[in-house]
Amino acid sequence: MEPKLIDGRAISAAVKADVARDVTEFTQQTGVIPGLAVIIVGDDPASCVYVRNKCRACRETGIASFEIALPKETTEEVLLREIDTLNRRADVHGILVQLPLPRHIREEVVLRAISPDKDVDGFHPVNMGFLLSGRPRFAPCTPAGVMELLDRCGISVDGMHCVVIGRSNIVGKPMAQLLLARNATVTVCHSHTEDLPFYTRSADLLVAAVGKPRFVCADMVKDGAVVIDVGINRLSEGLCGDVDFATVSAKASAITPVPGGVGPMTIAMLMKNTLLAARLLACPPVEPRA
Ligand code: GUN
Repeated sequence: MEPKLIDGRAISAAVKADVARDVTEFTQQTGVIPGLAVIIVGDDPASCVYVRNKCRACRETGIASFEIALPKETTEEVLLREIDTLNRRADVHGILVQLPLPRHIREEVVLRAISPDKDVDGFHPVNMGFLLSGRPRFAPCTPAGVMELLDRCGISVDGMHCVVIGRSNIVGKPMAQLLLARNATVTVCHSHTEDLPFYTRSADLLVAAVGKPRFVCADMVKDGAVVIDVGINRLSEGLCGDVDFATVSAKASAITPVPGGVGPMTIAMLMKNTLLAARLLACPPVEPRA
């Protein structure tokens, strides 16, 4: 069976084109230009590339971007003051602090300082709570990007057994919640799981978010499964995912490549979340009464 290659580059371009159209309409109707502030602390090369790409996507979609680059010695207190200023700015609707942060800064404290209304990463406990309650507001961009890929490829997870390998707050946990909200049966596996292949072989849809190059091999995958590779591993020979694409693609009914699969979707979903933040701040929904 020839596997269907899920083209994240084409789909992310389509999502960004939709966002650009909706931003134009929103700005015409309200006079408001959605704005995203991106804070980077230090000069980690990979993080610098991500931030540059995020600002470029803003330009492509008509969103204003504000890049705030702080030196790696920045104290937690100074970073929190910067976030407080951005929380109050009317022209900033989304705030993103690029992770990882230098070790002397507590990530949890910083993420909690971002106003939940501007938390386009969806990492604030309030937004994680909305996700857990089945009413996601800002869903974290990478797992939201996976759902968008599945939707635009016409793959419904309703009733499927979906296995997620990885339990991070950024990918694994929110991924499981988004799949559950679509009526999938979800298993979350992680580094302490005994007999991982037992679970992965029963997956109709397998999401690999492990952080280990080519970790998922063909004998861990059921014939005809949908395989989503969230891994981005930098090797001397180039980028590679968490899935051994060469062997797994022979068994899968659909599969994402690395690069060009899930990766480009993260930024497209960030643009979508920023427009949503601007919409919600411009016209807050009326909360239904109990
Ligand atoms: N670093 C790696 N992925 C992400 C992400 O989705 N958001 C932020 N803020 N930092 C990251």
